[in-house]
Amino acid sequence: MRATAAVLLVLCLLAVGHAWDCQPVVDIKNLMQIDAGLGQVVATNTSQIPYYLVGNEWIRLPGSLKHITVGPAGIWGVNKADSIYKYVAGNWVQAAGSLKQLDAGGDQFVVGVNINDTPYCRTRSATVGYKGPDSPFPWTGLPGAVKYNSCGPFGCWQSTRMIIST
Ligand SMILES: *[C@@H]1O[C@H](CO)[C@@H](O)[C@H](O)[C@H]1NC(C)=O
Repeated sequence: MRATAAVLLVLCLLAVGHAWDCQPVVDIKNLMQIDAGLGQVVATNTSQIPYYLVGNEWIRLPGSLKHITVGPAGIWGVNKADSIYKYVAGNWVQAAGSLKQLDAGGDQFVVGVNINDTPYCRTRSATVGYKGPDSPFPWTGLPGAVKYNSCGPFGCWQSTRMIIST
């Protein structure tokens, strides 16, 4: 299927006076997925090429990822084999485990789901300073159900509600 959606990303910054100041930035052709956190924006295209937004321009990151996320825990992603990576000093460093999607939007922790939709969390101590190699299994399984939303130009997916305290 050819993706024809022309996606115009509107980057919103909270301006002084609590007004939303939105400015359009150049779009990525065939955008697959986008994530913003801590004033940073990352995205992938449908060829699984990761990008990082600098000013008004998308900078291509190395490697190949199907999902990328940015937040207080850093830049994290998963590839098509569900392998997990953190972006460390210009390179992707692999982390232990296997997840199909990740979110680094939490307060320095990373949450992800595996192929069975089981949620896992990686606590602060194993995210911000992580430079690899990893301990055998740094992920903590989360109890209960999860509500995990992720939306892209081709739709949203969601499981059940998740509440996390660290
Ligand atoms: C994804 O980005 C790469 C690098 O910019 C480009 O070569 C490729 O054609 C893009 N894929 C699509 C489907 O646009």
